[in-house]
Amino acid sequence: MYRDSDLQNIFQVPITYCQLDVNVEQMAKECFEYYNEYDKEELIKSNVGGFHSGSLNLFHKKSKVFKSFFKQLDVEVKRYQAHIKCPKIKGLDSSWFIINNYKDYNAVHTHPQSVISGVFYVKVPEKSGELEFFHPVTDYLDMYWPQKNITEYNSWNSPVWRIPIKEGKLILFPSWLKHGVQPNLNKTESRISLSFNYN
Ligand SMILES: [Fe+2]
Repeated sequence: MYRDSDLQNIFQVPITYCQLDVNVEQMAKECFEYYNEYDKEELIKSNVGGFHSGSLNLFHKKSKVFKSFFKQLDVEVKRYQAHIKCPKIKGLDSSWFIINNYKDYNAVHTHPQSVISGVFYVKVPEKSGELEFFHPVTDYLDMYWPQKNITEYNSWNSPVWRIPIKEGKLILFPSWLKHGVQPNLNKTESRISLSFNYN
């Protein structure tokens, strides 16, 4: 019998999540209003298809629901930073929302020049795409521990980790961690998420 006390996890990846008290219906409504007004400013970042808004730093100051969200976010990010003791952060650097329609997705990426990043779920219809995190050394992992030889996946041997998402959920992660979003396979409803960087 293997004893847990004989095993140490080194180089761990801290992912945290919680539910925020945000009126997501109102937030979704404001995102769609913004989308209709500013769709000429569409940016291409990690999104393949879909709509990537410009930075919300100015926009959200006018909105009650966004103000409440960013206030709660600050508290959670500071708690996370203090616990994992990553480099200190000055504050919110950038934030944006993404609307993914049918078949839109977000390719694998990191958030360069940031310390802590994360995502908040505004609208999550059924089959609209899960968030995927990739092992920091995904390529090496498969080279040394081929997936075909894995009989049972766990946090030591998995190249990909999916976290269940729902509306109102906040997820924080180190900005260096590779991640992506599966395609939205819901033909009628859009998926809206709000992402941000702290440094
Ligand atoms: Fe991202």
